Amino acid sequence: MRGRIPDSFIDELLARVDIVDVIERRVPLKKAGREWTACCPFHNERTPSFYVTPAKQFFHCFGCGAHGSAIKFLMDYERLEFPDAVEELAQSVGMKVPYEGARDNAPREDKSDLYTTLDAAARWYETQLPNSADAKAYCAKRGLDAETIARFRIGWAPAGFDGVIRSLGTSERRMQLLTEAGMVANNERGNKYDRFRERLMFPILDRRGRVIAFGGRVLQSDQGPKYLNSPETPLFHKGRELFALWQVKQANSNLARIVVVEGYMDVIALHQAGLPIAVATLGTATTPDHTEVLFRAAPDVVFCFDGDRAGRSAAWKALESALPRLRDGRQAYFLFLPDGEDPDTLVRKEGKDGFEKRLREATPLSEYFFHELSHDVDTSSIDGRARLAERARPLIARLPDGAFRDLMAQELEKRSGARAVLEPDANARRTVQRPVAVQRSLVRSAISLLLAQPGIADQVERPYGFLRLKKPGIELLAELLDTARARPGINPAMLVEHFAERAEYPSLQKLMAATAVGEPEAQRMEFFDALVRMEQQIVDQRREELVTKNREGGLDSAEKAELRELLKARAPAPTADS
Ligand code: UTP
Ligand code: MN
Repeated sequence: MRGRIPDSFIDELLARVDIVDVIERRVPLKKAGREWTACCPFHNERTPSFYVTPAKQFFHCFGCGAHGSAIKFLMDYERLEFPDAVEELAQSVGMKVPYEGARDNAPREDKSDLYTTLDAAARWYETQLPNSADAKAYCAKRGLDAETIARFRIGWAPAGFDGVIRSLGTSERRMQLLTEAGMVANNERGNKYDRFRERLMFPILDRRGRVIAFGGRVLQSDQGPKYLNSPETPLFHKGRELFALWQVKQANSNLARIVVVEGYMDVIALHQAGLPIAVATLGTATTPDHTEVLFRAAPDVVFCFDGDRAGRSAAWKALESALPRLRDGRQAYFLFLPDGEDPDTLVRKEGKDGFEKRLREATPLSEYFFHELSHDVDTSSIDGRARLAERARPLIARLPDGAFRDLMAQELEKRSGARAVLEPDANARRTVQRPVAVQRSLVRSAISLLLAQPGIADQVERPYGFLRLKKPGIELLAELLDTARARPGINPAMLVEHFAERAEYPSLQKLMAATAVGEPEAQRMEFFDALVRMEQQIVDQRREELVTKNREGGLDSAEKAELRELLKARAPAPTADS
């Protein structure tokens, strides 16, 4: 059993890998000064707030707060557990992970013995295949060549109730592992027997190529359910795994397109025909988890279904699970096959080229979407168009914020004539269209307005009266005014870039975004109004200072006179602000 990984090794590993390398291989990064940025892979966004800092070997997202080391990144991104993320990183730099501690004190969640058990089972089924004339004949009938049989580790579970048990369950511990791995079933009298018998065996591998489950097919249709799959086990969660993803990754270093088909045999036929880009769900509908895994494997995903009713309904489910994952740069397509055909039969008939042609001509998600939603409504009538808009809106709202969502909303407007008003996502709402000067402190308003109209600076002369106001941001406001005054004609973006190296940079960007919309003349007036109100605050500040000092009995006569003046001049108090 795998033991504990010593801390010293983790240190050494993190010193050896470069986090930029690790992340760049999965998420394209752009250089930004001393850091690297990208749109965050952990939440949906349009502008990058994900930063990788090589000097600190750290990633951080200012949008969602995700952060950590290269190991943490792999855990989050590849959904690996800690030891697996360490293994993967170590492998990439040619280091071997040492494990401490003996079998017995190893942590309970250690699953390596289960993997070993399942691998041994796969190997055993593989060795059984050549012994069965029936199984060999069936493979030949289905056109499986030796290379394919080896690549997919196809095997044979012979007749009898205890082939696996006798070969692999040779100790109590091994029996326990076989049971936990789903290879053994119990009858009512508590007797244990092999789950898979007289079936062609398809091992299901995880994304690191380890056997985690099996699918087993009968040779003749009268021998029970066509396919029997492993039950859910600690290693196997149907809704997350994809058949042949490992083989796809082995065959392609840079995959542009991945195809999802329905059956094991479809996948295998496509790979054998020279299209090692096919995967299948394990007899379940496509889940959002699947879709995420698919888009991480390739930017284009083609969902391929039978043209019948069942196929259409499965396709719509796939569309629904794809919507929230359709960030810009990802595209989904739908390929419907002629009646009575599946990818297996088609690729044998039409060959690789024929099937590729179909893939190229697959229907884009947008087209399939509007076709499905409007095929039973009359879009020449108002009622029909209203119905279309009602159906489409909530679905479009599920798309992540981005260009694709905007285009889908536009398309809906075009087709329905109805405004596609969508709940803006929380992020977008935060940065745009906040009424300035009402909710912000005066200083922040002034900065924000100056960033919108740097030309205003020409009309403000030094010495700046507002500098006597003791509020955060006052110095920054003065500095911004100086910078803008020294460079007539400077535009907002340039002004902000002058502060690129400063800690205030992110806040300045936010403040600039806050006034991105607005009338120039109104903004000028608001700016000068803010300056006037700051002057009033200075007076208030001074008055309170003197009142406090007076209470403590320490005013000299000049101060007393000043205070009298201030109290006399006291205007109706201006609205307090933060
Ligand atoms: P298909 O019946 O289309 O399978 O079921 P197939 O791979 O094309 O098999 P052949 O060509 O008849 O040999 C599609 C998938 O649904 C799941 C399996 O994952 C199968 O590959 N399934 C099907 C089951 O889990 N159990 C079943 O009884 C049938
Ligand atoms: Mn088939």
